[in-house]
Amino acid sequence: MRTIRIFDTTLRDGEQSPGVALNAQEKLEIARQLARLGVDVIEAGFPIASPGDAEAVKAVAQNVKGVAVCGLARSKERDIDVAWESLRDAEHPIIHTFLATSDIHLRHKLRLSREEALEQAVWAVKRAKGYVSEVEFSAEDATRSDWEYLSRVYAAVIKAGATIINVPDTVGYTTPDEMRELIRYLFEHTEGIENVVVSIHCHNDLGLAVANSLSAVQAGAGQVECTINGIGERAGNAALEEVVMSLYVRQDRFQVKTNLNFQEIYRTSRLVSRLTGMLVQPNKAVVGQNAFAHESGIHQDGVLKEKLTYEIMDAHLIGREERVLVLGKHSGRHAFAKKLEELGYTLSEEEMNQAFEKFKKLADQKKEITEDDLKAIVSEEVTKPEEIYRLDFVHVCSGNNILPTATVRLIEQDGKILEGVATGVGPVDAAYKAISKLLGISSSLVNYTLQSITGGTEALGEVVVRIIDDQGEYVGRGSNQDVVVASVMAYLSAINKMAKHKRRLNPQHNGEG
Ligand code: KIV
Ligand code: ZN
Repeated sequence: MRTIRIFDTTLRDGEQSPGVALNAQEKLEIARQLARLGVDVIEAGFPIASPGDAEAVKAVAQNVKGVAVCGLARSKERDIDVAWESLRDAEHPIIHTFLATSDIHLRHKLRLSREEALEQAVWAVKRAKGYVSEVEFSAEDATRSDWEYLSRVYAAVIKAGATIINVPDTVGYTTPDEMRELIRYLFEHTEGIENVVVSIHCHNDLGLAVANSLSAVQAGAGQVECTINGIGERAGNAALEEVVMSLYVRQDRFQVKTNLNFQEIYRTSRLVSRLTGMLVQPNKAVVGQNAFAHESGIHQDGVLKEKLTYEIMDAHLIGREERVLVLGKHSGRHAFAKKLEELGYTLSEEEMNQAFEKFKKLADQKKEITEDDLKAIVSEEVTKPEEIYRLDFVHVCSGNNILPTATVRLIEQDGKILEGVATGVGPVDAAYKAISKLLGISSSLVNYTLQSITGGTEALGEVVVRIIDDQGEYVGRGSNQDVVVASVMAYLSAINKMAKHKRRLNPQHNGEG
């Protein structure tokens, strides 16, 4: 049976989703989880895009082992050199270089003739090959390119040293039958193709990304590029969990396997949703809240008699069952540290102290602590920005016939106390207004999401907010059993990132405004 390589691009194409911005620490946390999930390649970012992305790719390359780490580069000298700089410490580095091949892109975007583009692609692969043995070449907009020309480009880059040729459906335009024909055509007409990995990369503009990827596998593709929860540009990319579970559940049709550790699928989905702030729709295949819920009486009756009647895969297989910890409020630091180690976390002494304190507080309020609760606590601790402003307290007064009012007290790094009151349309609005007034903030809130980490009314609520000002955008995250407190913590965490950024640009800046 062939093994299909899973190339995860959550941290690159996924991160290109509107409104998503992950910092190096967050990318590292997701990358570690992707390694546990067993993906073959992690595309960690596009190093030339920003110094932050270069730093993130470097952090992943240095710290995540046992998996190939890839960085994207246009077919340009500086892009490739910067990608190599970020990847040089990886155990198994891959440079992924790309150039468009469709006439639409060549004429309107690149203003290159077909021959000029072919030469540039060959040049780029050779340059990347000077740094790494594994080079991937993507013909951007491949599915709208002329097939004969596309095949010539792939043959030329293979001759130049490319070891993976990727076929992107950049605009999500193709259909499953067309994709099958294209991949077969390439296998039949491209010199040297038998010596390289043929990869597929589908976008979801017509909702066909997974179907097109599966068709490509049937036609012989050996690598699928996908993202967790299908996040990505516009309508997103092929969803990793849907691709791998289709290949597994319908192994009778596909006759292939993957190296995935299915048990980690659900946890990875939750982590990505939490850190990106992109909620998973309830009816999303495999990882949506309702994906295994049976509502109708007939279905419930069938499932009770025999699961196979209405379930094609077991929820336990993808790690959906709640893992209740044996830890409780009487657990000691040692047991807590051991559990974190089992979950794959390595925390500094300081982070461990903070996380343990939070765990104790939560254990006091909540009967059962799940692994997901624990992950939320640690995730917040590890990815917490430097606290220029710390929340001392927030009091809100709200109800159905009262003007929602919030009193907030913040403590600045130098110990200065800031206290303020504001009213709003609801308690969160009132608290945000109080903070903005206190700090003279002129940023605007462009996104706010709230989701519960586990079920039940005593669950931890997690809030992700995105704020922008004239210099950038900042994502903040906060979790608490009280959603108003979680909201305030998320807002403050974004404000701390903004203040830190301003200080870096102007060391005299006190962080306000
Ligand atoms: O969609 C696309 O064409 C891409 C390439 C860079 C592979 O993301
Ligand atoms: Zn893409």
